Amino acid sequence: MCGIVGFTGAQQAAPLLLEGLKKLEYRGYDSAGVAVLGDGTIRVEKVSGKVQKLCEKTLDGAAVPGTAGIGHTRWATHGAPTDNNAHPHLSNDGRWAVVHNGIIENYAALREELIAKGFPFHSETDTEVIVHLLEYYDSGDMKTTVMKTVARLEGSYALGVLCADRPGTLFAVREASPLILGVGVGENYFASDVTALVSYTKNAVYLDDGEFAELTPEGITVYDCSGRRMEKAISRITWDVEAAEKGGYEHFMLKEIMEQPRALKAAVEPRVRDGEIVLDGVELTAEQLKGIRRVVITACGSAYHAGCVGRYIMEELCRIPVEAEVASELRYRNPLIGEDTLVIVISQSGETADTIAALKECKERGARTLAVVNVVGSTVAKLADDVLYTWAGPEIAVATTKGYTTQVAVLSLLSVYMARKLERIDDDRYRELVSGIRSLPERCQRSIDLNTHVAYLAKRYHNNSSLFFIGRNLDYAACLEASLKLKEISYIHSEAYAAGELKHGTIALIEEGRLVVALCCYEALFDKLASNIKEVKARGAKVMAVVQEGNRRIFAEADDVLFAPVVDPLLIAITEIVPLQLFAYYVAKENGCDIDKPKNLAKSVTVE
Ligand code: AGP
Repeated sequence: MCGIVGFTGAQQAAPLLLEGLKKLEYRGYDSAGVAVLGDGTIRVEKVSGKVQKLCEKTLDGAAVPGTAGIGHTRWATHGAPTDNNAHPHLSNDGRWAVVHNGIIENYAALREELIAKGFPFHSETDTEVIVHLLEYYDSGDMKTTVMKTVARLEGSYALGVLCADRPGTLFAVREASPLILGVGVGENYFASDVTALVSYTKNAVYLDDGEFAELTPEGITVYDCSGRRMEKAISRITWDVEAAEKGGYEHFMLKEIMEQPRALKAAVEPRVRDGEIVLDGVELTAEQLKGIRRVVITACGSAYHAGCVGRYIMEELCRIPVEAEVASELRYRNPLIGEDTLVIVISQSGETADTIAALKECKERGARTLAVVNVVGSTVAKLADDVLYTWAGPEIAVATTKGYTTQVAVLSLLSVYMARKLERIDDDRYRELVSGIRSLPERCQRSIDLNTHVAYLAKRYHNNSSLFFIGRNLDYAACLEASLKLKEISYIHSEAYAAGELKHGTIALIEEGRLVVALCCYEALFDKLASNIKEVKARGAKVMAVVQEGNRRIFAEADDVLFAPVVDPLLIAITEIVPLQLFAYYVAKENGCDIDKPKNLAKSVTVE
């Protein structure tokens, strides 16, 4: 939810911290701040609002001199996004500063205890207890003080700690919140994710839960929770700087929509060798697969929507029951999951709190777990038995696009692979699907090229206050994502509805001029959809349809048409979502919305 960053070296820290915060801003953008240690004094600057405001206030960092510091960009959980609640928080004696991503669950009790001990509080945040604990436990030894403090905390936290008495030293602590160390030459860093590090170093150390690190310009020492030194491997960051920048596009979201052909290629191509699907990272044997009685797919938001698509494909091909359920529900309902269940968790970030909790719950119940995840080394990737990376590259826009389509592509590969191992698919169909999946990068490019008129349609419809997305089968699964895309970035209410359900109540909401977007790419059910279109048009709706290229019958039914290229019926969700991502983008642009940083949202939801 929040982004944290730290730097120690010979250079001025603040300009580097601000650059890092700009890269992390997608994680939260309510307020931002830095704390820098110079001449034995910690100086804190923080503002409510975006990182740019902090840059202006600090003259791009020049006003905060010093060579070691920590920074934070916030997505408010405890306390409104005000200057006071912004991080870093400073102890009353001014000797300690802290930045925090996560939630301190026992903060209320700690706050009471610290107030009773005479520590005045200055914010409404849960985080503030940490600096007062640091001051309280200050023993003159930074490591011991940090350990004593952390021992009192319950919840999830990635912390960056600065102490006025230890120039050039930072501590970074990880417990159930992402934190990565960047290894430089004569300088070292930490950050919530690699996008803030890649401009400076390609060498990273991934901390695990319960571990903490001491960073100085000369080196990094990692400790386990009992304070014993540990050897950690240095990993090479594969993402490059350009991938985390806009590259000439007005918004990251548009760039990421356009990157989808390339992302799909990265997800699919290395996994098809001589016509056979080869799934690196999946160690499930045919025998183990044959013992699976049920598949449960779980995730949040768009990743859940990818799971809904996967459910249709997998059940159709593998002929075993497949369910998809949002992780925030699954984790709290005592689900019937055991050793004969394969649980597939999907997550772009790999750090979504509800998804992680559901994954842990399912593991405890003995299920085999498989993760479809984008971020290498993320918590979900570490926890699952098998991992399939989506290789989409960094996704910065809060609204996922290439994250979603690569998830669906990987689930499609997995479904065909499993069907083959289970001997539920014949050779011809197997070859047909493999070739269909391999064509997805080129088909996705065609989806972009076919819909140059989408910006014009967005101009026509951007004033609609509420609309419906309807479809059947895989078209319906794609509706879920199309509707969320529009809602999250344009703030226009919409609903995804199974077209056959409209007449059971919702059709009462169809009135003159209401826009209904009909997804009609699942050709086998086109006639049914055509009837549903007639029903809503008879009640005054305007219909914008999405059809496969070459479908001429639609012109007699719809007011406007978007196109998807012809693909295998099981793969339509990938090609038909593209024009609807673009539609959401252009509607939000027409309405002057902050497309990459929609209000109240954050990219990575690391709290419950
Ligand atoms: C998608 O556009 C959303 N921003 C959101 O629903 C997201 O998909 C969800 O929070 C899950 O994130 P994850 O894939 O990183 O787990």
